[in-house]
Amino acid sequence: MDQLKNSKKEILVGAEKFVLMLTENEIQKRISELASEISEEYKTKLPIFIGVLNGSFMFMSDLMKYININCEIDFFKLSSYGDEKISSGRVKLVKDLNADIKDRHIIIVEDIVDSGLSIKYVEELIQEHKPASMKVVTLLLKPDSLKYDIKIDYIGFKIPNKFVIGYGLDYAQKYRNLSSIYVLSD
Ligand code: IMP
Ligand code: MG
Repeated sequence: MDQLKNSKKEILVGAEKFVLMLTENEIQKRISELASEISEEYKTKLPIFIGVLNGSFMFMSDLMKYININCEIDFFKLSSYGDEKISSGRVKLVKDLNADIKDRHIIIVEDIVDSGLSIKYVEELIQEHKPASMKVVTLLLKPDSLKYDIKIDYIGFKIPNKFVIGYGLDYAQKYRNLSSIYVLSD
């Protein structure tokens, strides 16, 4: 348990060392800024925020607390990376939406955009339902890792092409519960 204390500067996972990259305060401050921007832009609309599970659960929850306009939420669940640090290159839908999104304003909420495959897949699924508009907010973006031509409308932090954990992001399903973000050191 001691390993999961957020004040820790480092976390050891076997022989691998993860170091603190974004503190809880930095993350919260940036999310409140993103929320102000989104609230202002959507104040005359009733957007549906669509989170991509599992990774986005914590970001979605905190983002919602700072959004100060009326909105709705729903979730997609995609199959994960497996237990690896690199993407399988495949995406599978595990849980579909419940909301009727036709003619609605959609904001997709992601924890991290890496290759962009997941977002591209989710965007295509949403477009099939003919929404009025669709934008994407991601807490993290690895610009050097992008392989697909996608547009991200709101970005929390641009980070180097390195593996990160915490704040919803897992390594073999663990460490999602950390409130800070840690990066694998080389
Ligand atoms: P993409 O489809 O390659 O853009 O990958 C997106 C998904 O992979 C994210 O939603 C995460 O679930 C996962 N992912 C990508 N990079 C990382 C990372 O550094 N740590 C943990 N999960 C990651
Ligand atoms: Mg994810």
